[in-house]
Amino acid sequence: MWRYGLIVAALACRAALAEPLVFDGHGGPIMDVAVGPDGAVLTASFDNSVGFWRGDGAPVWLEGHGAAVNSAVFLGGGLAASGSDDFAIEIWDLQAGVSVRRLEGHRGKVMSLAASGEGRLASASWDGTAAIWDIARGARVAELVGHKGNVNGVVFLEHGGVLTASSDGTIREWGADGAPRRVVVRHGFGVNTLVLNEAQGWLAYGAVDGGTRVVDLASGAVLADLTLERRPVLAMAAAPGMEQIAVGDGQGYIMVVETADWSISRDFRAAKNGPIWALAYTADGLSVIAGGIDDRAYLFPVAGEIEVQMSQGKQDFQRAPETMSNGERQFKRKCSVCHTLTGPGGRRAGPSLMGIFGRQAGQLEGYSFSQAMAGSDLVWSEETIDLLFDLGPDNYVPGSKMPMQRITSAQDRRDLVEFLRETTGE
Ligand code: HEC
Repeated sequence: MWRYGLIVAALACRAALAEPLVFDGHGGPIMDVAVGPDGAVLTASFDNSVGFWRGDGAPVWLEGHGAAVNSAVFLGGGLAASGSDDFAIEIWDLQAGVSVRRLEGHRGKVMSLAASGEGRLASASWDGTAAIWDIARGARVAELVGHKGNVNGVVFLEHGGVLTASSDGTIREWGADGAPRRVVVRHGFGVNTLVLNEAQGWLAYGAVDGGTRVVDLASGAVLADLTLERRPVLAMAAAPGMEQIAVGDGQGYIMVVETADWSISRDFRAAKNGPIWALAYTADGLSVIAGGIDDRAYLFPVAGEIEVQMSQGKQDFQRAPETMSNGERQFKRKCSVCHTLTGPGGRRAGPSLMGIFGRQAGQLEGYSFSQAMAGSDLVWSEETIDLLFDLGPDNYVPGSKMPMQRITSAQDRRDLVEFLRETTGE
């Protein structure tokens, strides 16, 4: 396993280095990555956890979300925040590795976070709103209502207000009190991500149609159109001094742009299969850390050769469908991102299903179940697992943290149960 403390040494002598530079340990795809001024790194994962990487020890796993984590930011003062599919934001004490506050109020997934540096946090949610929070008080101080679609991205402005990017195709400006100010960009297609340089008066954004543009913050006039043939644009990051931005897309490419003249200085395929969801510059600006389908994040030098590509091997759940039985196909596609069939140890959002038949619900040691599951007196059998997906977890075990999902075909359920029968025996 590679260790973060080696970054500095590795940057100095990369040529001599055979080991790929990766942040290894998550049990699901990497949705976001953040770098602190001191070089520490946060990785947010589909496995419900946030990894905090500092020094050359093992990462600290920040556990507490009840669903996939989409965004993580450093807040300063030893704190960080993360936003999740569980609709909540956790504030973490990084030293202690525990959540000190949970911010609730969104009614949809929290997709993006930004820190003001002045005690405020902003959140963008798929409930169609954004919000500004007072971190110390744990209170929402402004609710930003007006977008006509999911809000995907948010950045702070000096006046304490924010800019938000939405699936409704606009980027909007809001005051610190949450009052709508103006529409800055009307792109037409959903905007996924944005980077702001307020001092120099520009705003860069990326959209689902592949649109990658830089606009004048005051007038909205297009300063540069960096759109290529690739879509969607999923992630953007700025170098610490804003002399470059990096752009990641659904086809696995990372494009590096010089902000002095908006020239593309580098464009490389970082992932062989699949998207770049997470992107951040290291504190020295010499590398980017990227994440996607793989359950680890990778470090790429901004200049120079890349030694590894992400997503070399396809994930299990992407394996060629024709090589599997229907039951295995059901499991790989619908269960395997969250459950292993082997013993505990793999980091996944859900408990291991090894030995599931005859097991009482919510009792596997070492896994923290919802109260609903832990308090249920169900015993797992062919009938109860069938019912779980016939009715859906939300109906069969109300309050379960397993996501809503029904398998409507009785044949598919039978095949899945048979596959589990064959593979979960101890
Ligand atoms: C996105 C993640 C996710 C997916 C996909 C998922 N599960 Fe789960 N599953 C969970 C979580 C989380 C729990 C724990 C629920 C709780 O504590 O309320 C769970 C619990 C369970 C349990 C109860 C385990 C126990 O020990 O009580 C079973 C059985 C189960 N899942 C089977 C499946 C099967 C079969 C599939 C595929 C059809 C599936 N799950 C898909 C996340 C997932």
